[in-house]
Parts: sequence; C-alpha cells; structure tokens
Amino acid sequence: MTYSLETFLDIATEAALAGGAIVQSYLGKLEEIQEKSRPGDLVTEADKASEAAILKVITRHFPSHGILAEESGKGGAIASEFLWAIDPLDGTTNYAHQYPFYAVSIGLLIDGIPQVGVIFDPAHQDLFRAAQGLGATRNRRPIRVSATTDLARSLLVTGFAYDRRETPDNNYAEFCRLTHLTQGVRRGGSAAIDLAYVACGRLDGFWERGLSPWDMAAGVAIVREAGGQVTAYDGSPFEMATGRILATNSLIHPELSQELQQIHPLEKF
Ligand code: IPD
Ligand code: CA
Ligand code: CA
Repeated sequence: MTYSLETFLDIATEAALAGGAIVQSYLGKLEEIQEKSRPGDLVTEADKASEAAILKVITRHFPSHGILAEESGKGGAIASEFLWAIDPLDGTTNYAHQYPFYAVSIGLLIDGIPQVGVIFDPAHQDLFRAAQGLGATRNRRPIRVSATTDLARSLLVTGFAYDRRETPDNNYAEFCRLTHLTQGVRRGGSAAIDLAYVACGRLDGFWERGLSPWDMAAGVAIVREAGGQVTAYDGSPFEMATGRILATNSLIHPELSQELQQIHPLEKF
C-alpha cells in the first residue's frame, strides 16, 4: 500500500499526542529516575510509557517500517526505505525537575532524508508539524523562520551532550564566543524544541554536537519546511550520523558557520 506524506504526518501526530498525554500524566509523580550511559543521562517511567504508546500507534499503521527509538533501540525493518526516528521525551532532565521545556519528537526518514516531523510540547500544548512540500505549522497555523540578517542581532540556542566532561569537544568554547557575538545564546535542554523554535522564528539559529537521530529528525524536516537551512557546521550537507547540526533561518547561516569553524576548544576547567 502507498501512503501520502499527509497520512504519515497525521499518524505521527496521533502518536505524538498520545505520547505527550502520557508524559504529562507522570509529571511530578515519578517513582523511578535512572541514569543511563553517564551521570545526568536520565530515563524515567514516563520516557518508557510514552515510547510504548508511540510505538503502538506507528507499528499498528506501518508494520513494515523500520524504527529507531531512543529507549528500545532498533526495531522492524531498519533497512526499509521508511525509518521512524522517535524520541518519546526530549528534555528528560528538564522534565525530571519539572522545568516545563520538553517534548515528544517523531520524524520519518524516507530513503535517509527527514521528510516528516512532529514535535509536541505538552506543557505548552505547542504542536509543530511539517512534511516535505506541505509547509510547516505550529498549532495548525503556518510558521516561518525569522528575518534576522545579522549574527550580532540574533538569538541562538545550543546544548551540551552528556559526554561533555570527557571531551574537549564539549561546545563550551563555542558557547562563550557566540554569547559574546550575539544578543544571546539560550540552552533550552531539548534539541527538538530548539529546532522547532528556529522553525517558528522565536530563535534565529541552533547548533549542537553529540546528538542522535531521534533528537534531530523531526526538527530538521520542520526547519527546512519553514524556510530554514540545515547543514553541517561548515555548511556542507547535513549528515545525521555525525551528531552535529547547524540549523538557522538561512540568513545568518554563512556568518554562524564561519564563526563555528574558527573556534578552538577551551582546554581547562
Ligand atoms: C537531550 C536534549 C538536550 C541535548 C542532549 C540530548 P534527552 O535529549 O535534546 O537538549 O543537549 O544532547 O541528549 O536525553 O533529554 O532525550
Ligand atoms: Ca533527546
Ligand atoms: Ca529522550
């Protein structure tokens, strides 16, 4: 059976809303907060329950598709032309502290390209959606990236991966330098929302390293459909597997890319 991108978008929305409702239902009632790979890399029963609800919807509709989900890993036909990249709760640290900045992120890669994305922020009931060629929306209204042309007038966002204490490539130098050059750099704590905010013009640009496909897939589709640009730091084509992303309103892209390429790691802390 062949499906339209619109159908994929609708099913992804159904799944994201289901996950978001579960996430909200656990808020402030967590009994179990575990550390995963490293100190600070948390997982809660809300992450797991949200993922189960999302997978139920996706696999019911698309049993032959591949799945890349943060908590349960690979599933289904990974080599399939259709691969769902699912983060059932992006911003778990915020969530565990009841800091209301977290989201469900569901992206669909078709032949390796993010073509459908849904990001649902249940604390603010903000629903971001896009599919290639169909435009991007927030709560069903069209969105567009900002019109900021200068880096000096921009508001950016970034994040720091869980391996930040183990590598000099920890993004601290970039954060300092760009804080100096812009109106500010936010550290939201949810890469999915960071990308959604670039798409709707609340922020002008986002860069980060150490990310996983489920952090980025939906947001990449949404930023591009909203008129933004997504590449590697040096402006070359975006490669999901590198974990590195530069996403902007496109207007500040060359200037931000140039700065990122000139920054050297801070050696000592
Ligand atoms: C994290 C968030 C955060 C980013 C981390 C991610 P999680 O995802 O997106 O903003 O800086 O690198 O791992 O663990 O909350 O799903
Ligand atoms: Ca994540
Ligand atoms: Ca997560």
